[in-house]
Amino acid sequence: MLTTSLPGGTWTLGGLTVTRFGYGAMQLAGPGVMGPPADRDGALAVLRTAVELGITHIDTSAAYGPQVTNQLIREALHPYPDSLHIVTKVGANRDPQGGWPPARDPRSLRRSVHENLETLGLDVLDLVNLRLGDAAGPRPGSLAEAFETLADLQRQGLIRHLGVSNATPEQVAEAQAIAPIVCVQNMYNLAHRRDDELIDALAGQGVAYVPFFPLGGFSPLQSSVLSTVAARLEAAPMSVALAWLLRRSPNILLIPGTSSAAHLRENIAGAALSLSDDDLAELDTIGR
Ligand SMILES: NC(=O)c1ccc[n+]([C@@H]2O[C@H](COP(=O)([O-])OP(=O)(O)OC[C@H]3O[C@@H](n4cnc5c(N)ncnc54)[C@H](OP(=O)(O)O)[C@@H]3O)[C@@H](O)[C@H]2O)c1
Repeated sequence: MLTTSLPGGTWTLGGLTVTRFGYGAMQLAGPGVMGPPADRDGALAVLRTAVELGITHIDTSAAYGPQVTNQLIREALHPYPDSLHIVTKVGANRDPQGGWPPARDPRSLRRSVHENLETLGLDVLDLVNLRLGDAAGPRPGSLAEAFETLADLQRQGLIRHLGVSNATPEQVAEAQAIAPIVCVQNMYNLAHRRDDELIDALAGQGVAYVPFFPLGGFSPLQSSVLSTVAARLEAAPMSVALAWLLRRSPNILLIPGTSSAAHLRENIAGAALSLSDDDLAELDTIGR
């Protein structure tokens, strides 16, 4: 059994036990998530630091770079420790302008799963999220053909567990009618709380919710209430934002992104911050 001193403890994704405090690798690619990092050694060091600090859940995608974060993960960490679980996502490509055109037809999905296996140096992918919607957020529409393709790849033994990302609650339910999912990865943070009901429903089903942009993503979270609470606690606003997510629901797993080992350490320490009921009530006003 995995024990951890990381804040939040552990969660079981299907049969895989992971630390609730994970790491999102997207920030390791170049500007606009295109091309190599400016500081390649620094990027490798962040990944090694994450594992040294006990993180067992890393989020990535072949679309980051493209291929860049997967290659960095392999270079930094392969052969992977048994405890480490790498979560990838399929369903979007990159275009020369840095856009994220959807690639959810069966052929593209099969190709992407094989590409992830190859670049990560794995025989089986632990968890694959089907990324839906577009850069502006979830979009309604059936995911059946795409999700059935992934379920087929799972039956073939290339994928252990499935999830969905950037999904509406209706798409989550549609996926669950096709095959079990172990997580939903959607945008959510102190200021962006469209998924409050979905999070609670998933908690009741034992399904993880993995917020992307937990710190606001490309536009860092800014709120006078957050700044006030952080100042009172003598903590960084980002620490408060992460500690709040861990308190929000036990099925929330964190994958904050950073290209800095120092920020990673700060975020781990910060997420352990204890928030009082008064702090929580005040923070609750931000996204409502
Ligand atoms: N499913 C999807 O569609 C989707 C979309 C977006 C992201 N994701 C996943 O979600 C993960 C998290 O999202 P994200 O990385 O975009 O956004 P995020 O975690 O909300 O924020 C990352 C930003 O916060 C900064 N930061 C982190 N810690 C800091 C600290 N202690 N002090 C100051 N600045 C700090 C980082 O800059 P520094 O590099 O300077 O630390 C970076 O600019 C990604 O890595 C990716 O794996 C998924």
